[in-house]
Amino acid sequence: MSTMQSSNTRPVRLGFVGLGARGVYHLKAAIAVSGVEVAALCDIDAARLERAAGLVSGTGNAVPKRYGNGEKDYERMCGEETLDAVICSTPRQSHAAVCLAANRNGKHAASEGPLALTLDDAWALIETYEKTRKWSALALETTLLEEENGNNLTLLNLVRNGLLGDMIHCEDGVLRDRRAVKLREVQRSTTAPGDSGNFAPDAPMNRLIPLMDINHGDRFDFLMSVSSRPAAMAEFASAKFGKEAAAKFRSGPGDYNASILHTVDGKLVTLNYDTSTPNPREFCRFQGTKGVYMSAPGLPGPMIYIDGISVRPHRWEKVDPYFAQHRHPLLGKAAGNRTPLTWQLLVVALREGKQPYFDVYDSVTSSAIISLTQKSVSNRSRPVKFPDFTRGQWKTRKPIDLLVV
Ligand SMILES: NC(=O)c1ccc[n+]([C@@H]2O[C@H](COP(=O)([O-])OP(=O)(O)OC[C@H]3O[C@@H](n4cnc5c(N)ncnc54)[C@H](O)[C@@H]3O)[C@@H](O)[C@H]2O)c1
Repeated sequence: MSTMQSSNTRPVRLGFVGLGARGVYHLKAAIAVSGVEVAALCDIDAARLERAAGLVSGTGNAVPKRYGNGEKDYERMCGEETLDAVICSTPRQSHAAVCLAANRNGKHAASEGPLALTLDDAWALIETYEKTRKWSALALETTLLEEENGNNLTLLNLVRNGLLGDMIHCEDGVLRDRRAVKLREVQRSTTAPGDSGNFAPDAPMNRLIPLMDINHGDRFDFLMSVSSRPAAMAEFASAKFGKEAAAKFRSGPGDYNASILHTVDGKLVTLNYDTSTPNPREFCRFQGTKGVYMSAPGLPGPMIYIDGISVRPHRWEKVDPYFAQHRHPLLGKAAGNRTPLTWQLLVVALREGKQPYFDVYDSVTSSAIISLTQKSVSNRSRPVKFPDFTRGQWKTRKPIDLLVV
């Protein structure tokens, strides 16, 4: 049987914009799903366009139409082609424009993060959805569905089953040593690095929006954001290329950004972002009224403490027996299928005419954190009101559980 054992096998026609590392990854995943047709490809780089077309035709499929006539040729593709959705994997500056072009031409859009870099674009994506019913979403984000061996999905089930009680606080974020990559990027660029803020909210938000019921019974009310000085990146640049290279970083964003987000229901989120220091990756910690869960990729495994149930008072224990008992049913259904779960769910949503589980409201909320944290940092960390992108629907939107897809 096909994707997620669904009886709906309607063909799904896709166009791809951006065919670099991520675009080709998604293209290969899509080609492997039965009933998916790759009808059009778009990239400003002719060699990448040809390579991608070869990948499609090499699997026995028809050669897709190619669009490579400059930075805005995706607009022509969105206007001319009959597609269910556009898959956007261009650099982040163009995600909103590509998605809006798709929606305004009657196509859904699934994008790499972030969906929008400004609040104007964030609202444009919401307004366009409400007018056209064509959505843009971070439907390709893997944190909840695929990372940490499915543990995040099982954590969601465990929370839904009440083991941690009501959620109170979570700490999550992106802490990765990307100094070498950042140095290369800034060396190549003529512009200085931008303002301080949280530049990668989408991966952590993909698990914490469902786990904290953000936009689904609760919503972000305001945030405050603060950044450290830019020291580690400058030190690294200086050691590699001398004082001149370091100067660009000394006037750039701080190394570590921490943001506090408060919800109308009184929950707290601590969101970290640091890609400038030597560190072995992030951790996450979800605290409820009855217990707490913690995981850190690279350490021996997730830990849990449940009041009155854990073997020893106030001592972490391994999560394994709890996870065995609360394994998310979707993991069983998807077992043996080599298509990534993100792609399986995206195709089901397109076939059934539904929004993805992490829909336009969740996706825009997630990406808006970039501009909101920049605003707070540049204003001495003053609280910034979080827009209600759902316009009040958060009160009645059902919690995400992914039990029925
Ligand atoms: N989810 C993840 O784990 C993850 C990981 C890495 C990157 N990303 C994000 O995915 C996106 C793509 O990253 P990548 O590593 O594949 O980058 P990449 O540079 O390898 O690929 C980007 C492609 O987009 C093309 N492009 C640029 N402007 C275009 C335009 N106007 N029209 C058509 N094509 C255009 C480029 O020619 C290139 O082929 C970025 O936004 C990045 O932040 C996500």
